[in-house]
Amino acid sequence: MKSNIIEFEKFKIKTSNNVFCPREDIEIFPIALKNIIKKENKILELGTGTGAISISIAKNFKNVKITATDINSTAIKIAKQNAKINNVENIIEFKKSNWFENIDKIKYDFIITNPPYLAKKNSKYYTELLDPNSSLYSNNNGLDDIYKIIKLSVNYLNKNSFIIMEHSHNQTLFLKEYAKKYNLNLIKTEKDSLGFNRVSVFLN
Ligand SMILES: C[S@@+](CC[C@H](N)C(=O)[O-])C[C@H]1O[C@@H](n2cnc3c(N)ncnc32)[C@H](O)[C@@H]1O
Repeated sequence: MKSNIIEFEKFKIKTSNNVFCPREDIEIFPIALKNIIKKENKILELGTGTGAISISIAKNFKNVKITATDINSTAIKIAKQNAKINNVENIIEFKKSNWFENIDKIKYDFIITNPPYLAKKNSKYYTELLDPNSSLYSNNNGLDDIYKIIKLSVNYLNKNSFIIMEHSHNQTLFLKEYAKKYNLNLIKTEKDSLGFNRVSVFLN
């Protein structure tokens, strides 16, 4: 298992070739949270990989308590190490889980996720990506895991709480329409450094 260190503005992340390598886009999550953060914040991150998004939130905001999950055991191991390296191990609890399968039935203020969202049928165009396939691709034009998470999230959200989700720029309208079915309203979409829609915020 080869590992490297990536430096972000407020923290550093150890990576592994068996775990999705965090991109600069993860810095959009604290930006999306900035104006909606509450006094006390119970946060659930689904698909944490190296733990980078949860660590970034723990480094940017006070009064957060985070449960971060992944289906990949190596991801959980690396994420725990990264939390220690960045002194936030008391703020983030890590759990192996297939989306909501091992999550306690409690309510959160924020569900945060960067799920696999590339269309499986387009994998021939992404051969340069070295991340595990299970972290990149989803069925149904990349929407399968996104839809699963939206549908189940409503059972775990307080009223006036939020889903913050990364997605592909051409999925924005599909997400908006699907979320409406569950009374989740798209309130804003943050763009990435190239100007493409990248992270959407839904209000319950
Ligand atoms: C695109 S990566 C994002 C990783 C990390 N959040 C980041 O942005 O750097 C998607 C993550 O979802 C995890 N994942 C895929 N399917 C999952 C499932 N069914 N349940 C939980 N996690 C899953 C993958 O293992 C991977 O770590």
